[in-house]
Amino acid sequence: MSSTWGNRIKLSIFGESHGPAIGVVVDGLPAGLPIDEEALYAHCARRVSKDSTLSTPRKEADHFSILSGVYRERTTGAPLAAVIRNTNVRSADYKDIGLLARPGHADFTAFVKYAGCSDFRGSGHFSGRLTAPLVFAGGVCKQLLEEKGVRLGSHIYAIAGVADTPFDPVSLDDGTLAAVCAKDFAVLDDQKGEQMKAKIRAARDELDSVGGIVECAALHLPAGIGDPMFDGLESAVSSILFGIPAVKGVEFGAGFAAAGLRGSQNNDPFYLAENGAVKTRTNHHGGILGGISTGMPLIVRAAFKPTPSISRKQQTVSLTDSAETEIEVKGRHDPCIVVRAAVCAESALAVALAQYLL
Ligand SMILES: Cc1cc2nc3c(=O)[nH]c(=O)nc-3n(C[C@H](O)[C@H](O)[C@H](O)COP(=O)(O)O)c2cc1C
Repeated sequence: MSSTWGNRIKLSIFGESHGPAIGVVVDGLPAGLPIDEEALYAHCARRVSKDSTLSTPRKEADHFSILSGVYRERTTGAPLAAVIRNTNVRSADYKDIGLLARPGHADFTAFVKYAGCSDFRGSGHFSGRLTAPLVFAGGVCKQLLEEKGVRLGSHIYAIAGVADTPFDPVSLDDGTLAAVCAKDFAVLDDQKGEQMKAKIRAARDELDSVGGIVECAALHLPAGIGDPMFDGLESAVSSILFGIPAVKGVEFGAGFAAAGLRGSQNNDPFYLAENGAVKTRTNHHGGILGGISTGMPLIVRAAFKPTPSISRKQQTVSLTDSAETEIEVKGRHDPCIVVRAAVCAESALAVALAQYLL
């Protein structure tokens, strides 16, 4: 099993949902980067479940301890290691279903690949909880990007078909980005937010779950960052985004909708801004052309499937008995992953971009 990503900045994420701790080792950070631990705590707190009717009732503060790589509030250049203790585990919920494959979850594939040896409690290493160390690493990388003037943010773009106001791909500003990230329920349009909440609660009451889309943006990324083909920005950003459990689609700029446009509609006309910088009037390209940044806002969206663990009765198979049976999933689950996933996607974007700015 390997949960390592990257080359210039390399993450190695370890741990299991119901083990003593989860954590991350970040290699490749430059020495001397100031680390603001308060800001890091605030960043990590955005992933924490705040309302048990919308997210998991499992209360974990995601408090991290930095074990190495930071001295006198600056990175040392050595590997940065951090752990997050699991303080609220309830493994008894997994006693009965241990050997029944939850539809939509990784129990079946993990059982086949690891010959029944993997820790299935709380989904083990396949749990959404493993995004806590990713969010920590993303928080560190966000501080690196901020040092270079780049600002990142995210919001809930849609849940169960209810859409928020999208980010303005041309004139999105730092203030809007910071304000939406500060919200417990990160939407630009609070009325739409209430409609989304109603959809989540209705699904939960019906022993079901819903999915949705997260939209992330990076502002002030200079033009000329990235590479063509396999080392392009899109390749790096999507590969780390797909590492987040439950991500089933990634699109940049106009994304899949661009496939239905004509070239004359999708092309973004260039012009010269007052300071002489080359800009585009529209931003269907999402800030990337040929794998390289254009200097326009980088816009990326990640689609999350509905949470697989639902309490409704479903058909399945007992992996040990090779027999068909039924399952009603117990345990504490997010009726919608998207609420807590915006900061996960934003953190993934931060890690991917940071390695280009070293
Ligand atoms: C923040 C977050 C929270 C999650 N919470 C749950 C959960 O409560 N229950 C669940 O079944 N899946 C949850 N997931 C999704 C599963 O971990 C994921 O669907 C599973 O590992 C299978 O991976 P795949 O969907 O990428 O194929 C969560 C994912 C994330 C990112």
